[in-house]
Amino acid sequence: MYLEKICEQVVSLTKNVGEFILSEKNNIKAKNIETKGLHDFVTYVDKKSEEQIVKRLSEILPEAGFIAEEGTATEKGEKYNWIIDPLDGTTNFIHGITPFAISIALMEDDKIIMGVVNELGLKECFYAWKGSPAYLNGEKIKVSENKTVDESLIATGFPYYDYKRIKPFMGSLEYFMQNSRGVRRLGSAATDLVYVACGRFEAFYEYSLSPWDVAAGAFIVQQAGGLVCDFKGEDNYIFGREIIASNSTIYNDFLMIVKQYMDN
Ligand code: IPD
Ligand code: CA
Ligand code: CA
Repeated sequence: MYLEKICEQVVSLTKNVGEFILSEKNNIKAKNIETKGLHDFVTYVDKKSEEQIVKRLSEILPEAGFIAEEGTATEKGEKYNWIIDPLDGTTNFIHGITPFAISIALMEDDKIIMGVVNELGLKECFYAWKGSPAYLNGEKIKVSENKTVDESLIATGFPYYDYKRIKPFMGSLEYFMQNSRGVRRLGSAATDLVYVACGRFEAFYEYSLSPWDVAAGAFIVQQAGGLVCDFKGEDNYIFGREIIASNSTIYNDFLMIVKQYMDN
């Protein structure tokens, strides 16, 4: 399988679908916003983008199945599966702010082998495949080398529908507010992850995320020299609904702090 070639095709398809998404940005009206769950929204733009993505991906790799947020395709592949978020950052999108991104990962058995996150606001496309460096618009990227949590800019997502762990989460937030350069909440987990990959953030953590929010971005972080795990320091971060990603230098300290608050 020529992963580099497949990755090129996926990058190109995210650019085409991205043009559609951007062209609809100013057309979103209240009547176009459907509620999927508490504070969880979807529009015809998410759905149409996913349809276009699924159609193109089926041509690129006909034997692969799909795990796609809006449920356009549900059949599972024996060996290969695409994990797709057609628009990560829908709340940003409907409020007319950035970032928002298309996120596509390819999974072989249970391992990710390719990831593309195209952040449409700044037209920054991040990607990597198994064995490759990580790239941003054709340039190689690496995680940052900052050595302490105190010198780190930390990204997270604030809970907005699953409040079960809000107290320990607030504890961790209070800690990072006082012991880092600051905390950011961008509103797109895929973008948070690729910003760790290119060294803009030192670390990211969030709970209650889905596989399509994290699969591509987490893989890009690893290919850029960073580390990814769940709140126990284990590998269940794609389907386990909790994720930590960081540069390699602060990883142990960052994990210890998140674990202390969140893992009980
Ligand atoms: C959301 C974004 C957000 C995160 C949410 C996700 P969506 O994805 O990634 O940053 O906090 O949990 O659901 O719904 O915009 O695709
Ligand atoms: Ca998402
Ligand atoms: Ca989405």
